[in-house]
Amino acid sequence: MKNTVDHIRLSADGKKLIILDQRRLPLHREYLVLSTAESMYDAIKTLAVRGAPAIGIFAGFAMYVLSQQMSRVRGEFDAQFARTAAYLNGSRPTAVNLSWALGRMERVVKDNAALRVEELIPLLAAQAQAILDEDIAMCRAISEYGLSLLKEGDAVLTHCNAGPIATSRYGTAIGPLILGAEQGRKMKAFADETRPLLQGARLTSWELHNAGVDVTLICDNMASIVMKQGWVQYCFVGCDRVAANGDTANKIGTSGVAVLAKHYGVPFYVLGPTSTIDLGCATGDDIRIELRDSDEIREKWYSEAMAPEGVKCYNPAFDVTDHDLIAGIITEKGICRPPYTESLKKLFE
Ligand code: MRU
Repeated sequence: MKNTVDHIRLSADGKKLIILDQRRLPLHREYLVLSTAESMYDAIKTLAVRGAPAIGIFAGFAMYVLSQQMSRVRGEFDAQFARTAAYLNGSRPTAVNLSWALGRMERVVKDNAALRVEELIPLLAAQAQAILDEDIAMCRAISEYGLSLLKEGDAVLTHCNAGPIATSRYGTAIGPLILGAEQGRKMKAFADETRPLLQGARLTSWELHNAGVDVTLICDNMASIVMKQGWVQYCFVGCDRVAANGDTANKIGTSGVAVLAKHYGVPFYVLGPTSTIDLGCATGDDIRIELRDSDEIREKWYSEAMAPEGVKCYNPAFDVTDHDLIAGIITEKGICRPPYTESLKKLFE
């Protein structure tokens, strides 16, 4: 298995981070070459790189790239490293993978206090690579567990984008469909377009179509009619942070899909690596929800504004799906079932 991915990689000399600019997809395949903390912060904030696991992978490599620019005096290096990690961590609050990956990089620094900076930097490179390699393996395992639920001809409705570019390879929520297509199995997908930033239209339908999956794009408000007509057998979504009781933060609109799924008797599954589970959050009430600019609702994508100047807009980027709407949480270690306070805890024992 090749242990690099095209959408987040280092330059040949390891001094820059090269990412596929997800804001430009699907029509434009453009790459950004990043070497400053500010440009990396912006890449996360503006969703050039997005998706919880991908943000974590990006953060690992970002800290490696930036560490090479820091002081060679160990005390100064440690202070700069901590400051830079805190800065990047402030770019987006909801996905736990960002602080999780930064924490792993910081642990390398703390656990190797006796090393010279020159000796430490290769360890940081190895840790960033390990975060990526582990994600590749986790996504593959999640995809296999998800695929084990599906029969030939089944259709899955998904929301937002939890595919290869949101992770490393395969993805989580749509990983089973991509793996199934690789194995010649015939499953279908319905992709919610996912207002306001259209990750479903721009990214999920693009990834599934490229993978040869029979995908139908719908507007978010069409999920109900699709479920009512019995066209989907499962809902599979990704996650940005799963609390200890199973409450799950994911892209805004996910909880509405879960409510509909319950009404129509469609099993609703969350798929994500254990790196997205935060036992430090007791319930969804403890998850901080990112609020974004109103212009994303009012005028983005339109040739002119679609609401009057100055009208109030509320633009939360995520919502929390209550654990009792979730049939199972599929991780690389298997499928957790309710009660999640017990099944999620077991994953870390
Ligand atoms: O704002 P985004 O596009 O980063 O939101 C992403 C999602 O909500 C994904 O579903 C989640 O991060 C899981 S990606 C495997």
